[in-house]
Amino acid sequence: MPDHTSDSSEPEEAQMARTVAVTGGSGKLGRAVVAALIEEGWTVVNFDRVPSPDSRARFIRTDLTDYGQVVEALSGIDEVHRGVNAVVHLAAIPGATFAPNVATFDNNLVSTFHVFQAAKLFKIHNLVWASSETLLGYPFNNPPAYVPLDENVPPTPEVVYALAKDLEEEMARQYCRWNPDQKMIGLRCSNVMDPSEYADFPSFEKGRPPARGTCGPTSTPVTAPKRSSVRWNTTSLGSTTSSSLTPTPSCAGPRRN
Ligand SMILES: NC(=O)c1ccc[n+]([C@@H]2O[C@H](COP(=O)([O-])OP(=O)(O)OC[C@H]3O[C@@H](n4cnc5c(N)ncnc54)[C@H](O)[C@@H]3O)[C@@H](O)[C@H]2O)c1
Repeated sequence: MPDHTSDSSEPEEAQMARTVAVTGGSGKLGRAVVAALIEEGWTVVNFDRVPSPDSRARFIRTDLTDYGQVVEALSGIDEVHRGVNAVVHLAAIPGATFAPNVATFDNNLVSTFHVFQAAKLFKIHNLVWASSETLLGYPFNNPPAYVPLDENVPPTPEVVYALAKDLEEEMARQYCRWNPDQKMIGLRCSNVMDPSEYADFPSFEKGRPPARGTCGPTSTPVTAPKRSSVRWNTTSLGSTTSSSLTPTPSCAGPRRN
């Protein structure tokens, strides 16, 4: 059984400098991010409502809609960590059609606010979270201004899931305005694909009309975080967004958002 607990002989600051909290680390994207961070040498603590099959990261069952739980999660958990240096916030209902709109909005926006606010409280200045390409107009019943879409297209959320992502980006802008030392990077992920799904790609392209929601790069390989290896102390300041982790050929598979 691997020992996930902190080494108490290590100076506290040294432990924090390589400990990252991942929310939603049990999910599709989260499992890949946790694996990539561990491979990079980080100590990862996974805060999720459900456990992960990957036991390398310590799992702490957490409901992010409860601010008290988020405060404790990021400040310190007995014998697990005494503070984190960075947060990767991925926990969410990952699309427009998994739950009633009000449940998606409540869960996602409140969770993200709690994570941003607790990060401010504990001065955790390195924060990456999952936004979504859907805020650019998915499902594109109205034609976009131009294709392929890029960061210059103003957000035009058409579904409640995307509206919440748009509001999260606005929250991030304001948190960074309040504190210029705060770094927040929102990744407008596309349709996240596990390598085990790559074999199905040809069937997405053949004999089917293009699926809705394919106005830009529409596939985010879950292996993508490996490509840009994880470095928190970059020079990037303020809230930034990126429309896709990795531009890939249009590939309209079964989608989450
Ligand atoms: N999957 C995609 O194609 C896609 C595309 C764009 C953006 N995103 C975003 O990426 C992120 C990860 O998506 P995913 O595909 O891995 O989703 P997923 O459903 O596989 O994983 C999400 C995880 O978050 C957890 N979670 C949800 N609400 C929670 C809460 N209140 N408290 C604690 N844990 C909670 C769930 O238990 C789950 O393990 C989400 O923010 C999603 O909106 C996903």
